[in-house]
Amino acid sequence: MKFILVTGSSGLIGSEAVEHFDRQGHRVHGIDNNMRAVFFGEPGDTTWNRDRLLKITKNFTHHDLDIRDRTRLDTLFRSIRFDLIVHCAAQPSHDKARDIPILDFEVNALGTLNLLEATRLHCPNAVFILLSTNKVYGDAPNELPLKELEMRWDYARPEDYQGISENCRIDRTLHSLFGASKASADLMAQEYGRYFGMKVGIFRGGCLTGPFHSGVELHGFLSYLVKVAISGGTYTVFGYKAKQVRDNIHSHDVVCAIEEFATNPRPSEVYNLGGGRENSISMLEAIARIENMTGKKLQWRYVEEARRGDHICYISNLSKFCSHYPKWRITRTLENILEEIIFSQRQLLTASGGS
Ligand SMILES: NC(=O)c1ccc[n+]([C@@H]2O[C@H](COP(=O)([O-])OP(=O)(O)OC[C@H]3O[C@@H](n4cnc5c(N)ncnc54)[C@H](O)[C@@H]3O)[C@@H](O)[C@H]2O)c1
Repeated sequence: MKFILVTGSSGLIGSEAVEHFDRQGHRVHGIDNNMRAVFFGEPGDTTWNRDRLLKITKNFTHHDLDIRDRTRLDTLFRSIRFDLIVHCAAQPSHDKARDIPILDFEVNALGTLNLLEATRLHCPNAVFILLSTNKVYGDAPNELPLKELEMRWDYARPEDYQGISENCRIDRTLHSLFGASKASADLMAQEYGRYFGMKVGIFRGGCLTGPFHSGVELHGFLSYLVKVAISGGTYTVFGYKAKQVRDNIHSHDVVCAIEEFATNPRPSEVYNLGGGRENSISMLEAIARIENMTGKKLQWRYVEEARRGDHICYISNLSKFCSHYPKWRITRTLENILEEIIFSQRQLLTASGGS
């Protein structure tokens, strides 16, 4: 039995990690202060997910704690010697960061440093996982030659077919403030691995998704798209002829990758982690597929101007992680992911009295 700390435990990845490790009989502690509701208002509220976890878990303790609060973090780390820290708490939106640059940096960069330092002081042998993002590459992936297909953009050269690798540069590129605060956290985490020899692993996520996302317009694209299809409203697509491509990975497969790393850590390694080519989809394709699966017409509008620093075609190249951890693979197809999200959104609608 291990002591595991999950930050952002009421969020998409955090809650999946809590459930997963609790099921295995570990003592899981979660930190979440429901800040997603501060960032995105009521639709971002994650208390339903915290309550769900408290009901279904055996050994889970929730701490209503802010990762910016060093004093309370220190008290927690003094009282429990953690074996594994899975750091998922974040301001997760590319666009939102523009309105709250200081808060974004405090949560994403300083919050990560607080956790790394608490780990170094109190449990330096623990494995530390940082959920980073493909936005650390800024818009550098857009420099690859692309070809325009009927429904999507795609890489023009055969050598780019598997997508973006960890060799993509992270500086001299337009990140968005979110990409810059996450890149700071990413670099600091690498540094704690290299400089202090700690067992730090960094995962640069593509689109992470699953049924336990409190999907909002500014974050959680598939989840929000399904929500609009089922509950009504209008989805806005920004630029690139609605042919922009994202690769989607189910939160379960993310947590399995974290577990593989934690079992056999390779300090300071950085991995791209998304759904890969098989689970990639463009906006146009996603809209058509969701309409087909839900039997509902999705209302959407097109705005010519793309989001600043947004990727045109982003597919995570999974070769590095798969070569280091050959037992891991994607287990949930895009079809599985969409089915699960549609099912959970229908349940939410029924629970709220909708039809
Ligand atoms: N979902 C994606 O598509 C995606 C893509 C790439 C990277 N990531 C990264 O993966 C991680 C997890 O993402 P997610 O989708 O689960 O996000 P999420 O918003 O669902 O979960 C994050 C949780 O952290 C909590 N939180 C925020 N600030 C906090 C603070 N100061 N103190 C304590 N708790 C706080 C929020 O309340 C929320 O429940 C994040 O670091 C995110 O940047 C996500």
